[in-house]
Amino acid sequence: MNSGSPQLKILVTGASGGLGGALARHYAASGVHLALWGRNLRRLTELAETCRTRGATVTLRSLDIADIPAAVAALIEEDEARSVDLALFASGLGDIRAATDKVEDPGLVARLSVINFAAPAAMAAAMAARMVDRKSGRIVLIGSAAAFHALPFAAAYSGSKAGLTRFSEALRLGVREHGVGVTLVSPGFIDTAAGRQVPGPKPLMLQPEEVAARIAQAVERGKAHAVMPWPFAVLRLFDRLLPRPMRDRLLLSLAPPG
Ligand SMILES: NC(=O)c1ccc[n+]([C@@H]2O[C@H](COP(=O)([O-])OP(=O)(O)OC[C@H]3O[C@@H](n4cnc5c(N)ncnc54)[C@H](OP(=O)(O)O)[C@@H]3O)[C@@H](O)[C@H]2O)c1
Repeated sequence: MNSGSPQLKILVTGASGGLGGALARHYAASGVHLALWGRNLRRLTELAETCRTRGATVTLRSLDIADIPAAVAALIEEDEARSVDLALFASGLGDIRAATDKVEDPGLVARLSVINFAAPAAMAAAMAARMVDRKSGRIVLIGSAAAFHALPFAAAYSGSKAGLTRFSEALRLGVREHGVGVTLVSPGFIDTAAGRQVPGPKPLMLQPEEVAARIAQAVERGKAHAVMPWPFAVLRLFDRLLPRPMRDRLLLSLAPPG
């Protein structure tokens, strides 16, 4: 740490959201400095209050990560101020094709690609380069179980998360011999604003606090990939093993949104 303080510094992006907020509350304790990022300053400020009552010190940053050069510059500034030990990239957008559209709107495809893939990947790369220099640190990227399947009603969401999944695995291999860890988290449904927005049944939905605790456990164990809850890991295997015509039929039979 370059501040001379014994504190552990944890960065949480998407801290104004359901999962990011739960992660911040999970880690809030004396001896921890939390850098909480998001756009909604009111929610960040309320969260900061809670984290401070648990003994953590907190700084806030409201920014739109769609401006990737600005987000990367902010990340470097954050790390210069005090080295980040654990970076949890929990921002993201969930959206699906409108029932009336045959194909996703190009604007939606571009937005999801930037927020769910390009921005977190660029920030993780910037973070990893700095952690490699000091030979320590861990990065957590939040993918989705949707990345395992070619969802016809959510091509941009499943595609952006699939991109992040592959990026995370490649980054992990690239930096592990330099003392830096990368953990990919692939959750099923989480009971947050984004999760509740998904129409239709949401089997095995987890509470954000439970997901945060499982992520912390995966970090503690230095896991490469955490899929939660576990039946989604079985579905992933199933998707890989099924012959394409059968898999296509199954995916097409999934209930369309509406
Ligand atoms: N909920 C689920 O069922 C589920 C399942 C699998 C994976 N995930 C993933 O888990 C992560 C957290 O999602 P969540 O469920 O907690 O959703 P959420 O409650 O909607 O929170 C999303 C967070 O991302 C931030 N964000 C979105 N666009 C941003 C932008 N342009 N610039 C900066 N921050 C931005 C939001 O900030 P503001 O609110 O301040 O705008 C918010 O803090 C996401 O990556 C999501 O894809 C969620």
